[in-house]
Amino acid sequence: MIGKGHQTRDGIRIHQDADFAGMHKAGELAARILDEIAEHIFPGQTTGEIDRLIEEKVDAAGATSATIGYRGYQHASCISVNHVVCHGIPGDKKLKDGDILNIDVTVIVDGWFGDTSRMYVAGKLNRKAERLIQVTHDSLMKGIEAVKPGNTFGDIGHAIQSFVEGHRMSVVRDFCGHGLGRVFHAPPNVLHYGRAGTGPTLEEGMFFTIEPMVNLGRPETKVLADDWTAVTRDKSLSAQFEHSVGVTATGVEIFTLSPAGKFHPTYG
Ligand code: MF3
Ligand code: CO
Ligand code: CO
Repeated sequence: MIGKGHQTRDGIRIHQDADFAGMHKAGELAARILDEIAEHIFPGQTTGEIDRLIEEKVDAAGATSATIGYRGYQHASCISVNHVVCHGIPGDKKLKDGDILNIDVTVIVDGWFGDTSRMYVAGKLNRKAERLIQVTHDSLMKGIEAVKPGNTFGDIGHAIQSFVEGHRMSVVRDFCGHGLGRVFHAPPNVLHYGRAGTGPTLEEGMFFTIEPMVNLGRPETKVLADDWTAVTRDKSLSAQFEHSVGVTATGVEIFTLSPAGKFHPTYG
């Protein structure tokens, strides 16, 4: 029997009751920053300016960006536009009307990591993109519904994959969610596809992200020469939503809920 404050044989940390409060505070700040950034997204805006504003908000809160300096990454957010799957680097390029973008922010508050991302649109959202964003958001929530003690990580992946493929879209295999807590990326790899009943069993006190990336076309990705930007190989549109969650005695706590209720598929 492995008690609280230890790790499972899969290397997954079991946190204490008091640790939930630390994660809640970090998650809430990351979510609030995503709430506040929405008004700064419009055609003509650069992703570099959005990132600058995010860094300013992290600093103003007295928190630390988890991504600045992480494996050489130099920005407070990843901003992934249209066919960019994840890890888009903020820069000088201006957003165009109808562009969809994922903004992913990770902050450290009192040593705890809060990691969340959402979709936004610059200008007018077209119907194809709207459908992709809605299905991606709903797939994350299906995954979260599968989080409770006794279920497995495979149950989460299966819930996401079956939902997405039921809408004739595809789940990216090349990137996954991750354990987190006092560290950014820890075991396990949280796959967004899989078979029910497989993988490690969920236990109270596990903290991890669920962050499905969904493509309108095929699931394959490639990483560009900058060594970060991941794009769809077939150039199809891609979307992603991410929450940080903790397993409770009866189910799940979402640490990165929007304080303003703005974690919404077509918000922004
Ligand atoms: N926030 C991303 C995640 O969901 C990781 C970004 S790492 C960076 O795990 F270096 F690219 F910022
Ligand atoms: Co993450
Ligand atoms: Co993230």
